[in-house]
Amino acid sequence: MKVLISDDLHPAGIAVLENTPNIEVVVQVGMDPAELMEAIQDVEGLIIRSATKVTDKVIEASNRLKVVGRAGTGLDNVDIGAATKRGIVVMNTPGGNSITTAEHAISLLLALARNIPQAAHSMREGRWEKKRFQGRELYNKTLGIIGLGRIGTIVASRAQGLKMRILGYDPYVKREMVTSCGVEMVSLDDLLARSDFITLHTPKTKDTAHILNRKAFRKMKPGVMVVNCARGGLIDEAALVDALQEGIVAGAAIDVFEQEPPVGSPLLIMGNVICTPHLGASTEEAQKNVAVAIAEQVADYLLTGTIKNAVNAPAVSGEMLAQARPYLTLAEALGSFQAQIIEGPIDSVAIDYIGEVSKLETKPLTHSLLKGLLYPVMHDEVNYINAPSIAKSRGIHLTEAKIESAEDFTTLIRLSVRSGTQQYSVAGTIFGKYEPRLVRINEFRLEALPEGHLLFIYNTDRPGVIGSIGTTIGKHNINIARMQVGQEKERGQNVILLTTDTPITPECLEDVRRLPHVAKAMQLEL
Ligand code: NAD
Ligand code: MLT
Repeated sequence: MKVLISDDLHPAGIAVLENTPNIEVVVQVGMDPAELMEAIQDVEGLIIRSATKVTDKVIEASNRLKVVGRAGTGLDNVDIGAATKRGIVVMNTPGGNSITTAEHAISLLLALARNIPQAAHSMREGRWEKKRFQGRELYNKTLGIIGLGRIGTIVASRAQGLKMRILGYDPYVKREMVTSCGVEMVSLDDLLARSDFITLHTPKTKDTAHILNRKAFRKMKPGVMVVNCARGGLIDEAALVDALQEGIVAGAAIDVFEQEPPVGSPLLIMGNVICTPHLGASTEEAQKNVAVAIAEQVADYLLTGTIKNAVNAPAVSGEMLAQARPYLTLAEALGSFQAQIIEGPIDSVAIDYIGEVSKLETKPLTHSLLKGLLYPVMHDEVNYINAPSIAKSRGIHLTEAKIESAEDFTTLIRLSVRSGTQQYSVAGTIFGKYEPRLVRINEFRLEALPEGHLLFIYNTDRPGVIGSIGTTIGKHNINIARMQVGQEKERGQNVILLTTDTPITPECLEDVRRLPHVAKAMQLEL
C-alpha cells in the first residue's frame, strides 16, 4: 500500500509509516495541481496538512485512493462530498493541538498588553522607546471568551492563573460545565460590553461568521483588545480596521484571516495589530501529536480497515454498511435537523429504535445521530468516532431504547432532546429500501426528504399563508423544489418544510419572518 505525503509532516509521523510493514511512503511536498493529479494516481493513502488542495479534480484523478488523512483539524481544503461519492474516507485529528493553540492565544494576549513585538522591532532598529511602549496589566482585567469548547476552556483555566476575571459566551455549553474554570457565562452583548480583552474560540458557522462585526465593535468597551486564533472570517476585518482607527479597539492580535495569506490587508501594517501566519497549532509538540496520530490512523485503515476520526464514514464493517447505510443517513439528518432547531445547550438525548431498525446493530447509528447533532456547532471538530465522548464531555445525558414492536411505521428512529424546560422531538423512517423520510416534528406529521437547503416555518393555518410565503421567496429569486406541510389540527398550527434550490438568503428569511401568521422561520442545511 502506497501513502503519499504532500505537505510538511513532522518526521515522527513519516517514521511511523516507514516502520509499518506493507506500507510504502512517498514524500513529495509543494506540488502544483497537475503534479498532484499525476502523483495521486497510484497511491492508496494521501496525508496532508492545510496546503494541499484536494479538489474534486484531484479525487477524480485518483484510481486507487482509499483514504485522505489531515494532520490537524480544518478540512476546508478537502472536497469531502467528492471523496464520499468515491468511497474515499476522510480523517482528521481533532484535539491534538488544543493546548498549543490555547497557549498561542495567551501569548497573543500578553504580547498585545505589553507591545512586545512592536518594542522588539523598535529595538532592532536601534531605538529605546520606554514611554511609547508602556503596556497594561492582565491582573484583575476581564477576559471575554467566545466559544468554550476544548481550546476556550483551556484558555479560561490559564487566564485564571493570571488572575483575570473571565466571562464566557457559548449558547451550546451548560453553565455547570465551565464553572470549574472560573467562567461566568453571560450573553454576547454583556460579554462585549464588559470585557477588557476578547478572544474567539468557535468554529466558523453560519452563526459565528462575522460574529465580531460593526455592530459588535460598537457595543465594546472603548480600549478593548481582541484576539482571534480560531478561524478567519469570525471577525469582519474591514470593520476591525475601522474600530482600530476610531480607537474603539486599542489592539488586535490575529492568527487567522478571511483570506490566507492576507495579501495587502491593512491589518498587516497597523501599529496596534500583531499578525501571526496561522501559527496557532505550530509547536513541535502539537505537530508531532497530529502527525503520529494521522500516520497511525491511515495505516490502520489501509491495513486492517479500522476507521478512526473519519468525518465522512462511520465505523462499520462493509457488510453492515450495505444494510445500515439509509439508516446512517437518516440518523445523521435527524440529529442535524434537531440541532438547528434547538435553542440553548442540550441536557439530554433519548433515541428510540423502533420496529425493523431495532434488529440492526444500532451503535453506529447512534454515533451518526450524535455527529449530526453536534456538527452544526462544532464542525470539523466532531466526527463519527469522537461524537459520543464529546457529547459526554459536554454533559449531554444519552439514553437509547430498542422497541421491537412497530407503531405506525414498520421502522422508525425517534430522537427526543431536552434543553432546559424545552422538549423537542423528531422522527424518521425509511421508505422502500433506501429512502429516508422525516415523518414527525414534535406533534406535527409530515413526509419530507431530510436533505438540502431547507426553510422551516411555524405558522398559523389560515387561507393564503402558503401562497404569501411562496410569493415572498419567489421575489428573492429563490426556487422552491419541494414543500411539505405538517398539520397539528385543522385550523391550528402548521409546520412547513420547504426545500429550495439555493440557500435562503438572510434578507429573504427576514421578509418571511415579517409575514402575518408566520410565528417562526429558520434556515436549515442538511
Ligand atoms: P470545539 O469544537 O471543542 O469548541 C468550539 C466551541 O464553539 C463549542 O463549545 C461550541 O459550542 C462553540 N460555539 C459554536 N457556535 C457558537 C456560537 N454561535 N457562539 C458561541 N460559541 C459557539 O473546538 P476547539 O477545538 O476548541 O477549536 C476552536 C476553534 O479553533 C476552531 O475553529 C478550530 O478550528 C480552531 N483552531 C485553530 C487553530 C489555529 O492554528 N489557529 C488550531 C486549532 C484549532
Ligand atoms: C487546524 O485546523 O488543525 C488548525 O487550523 C491548524 C492547522 O491548520 O494546522
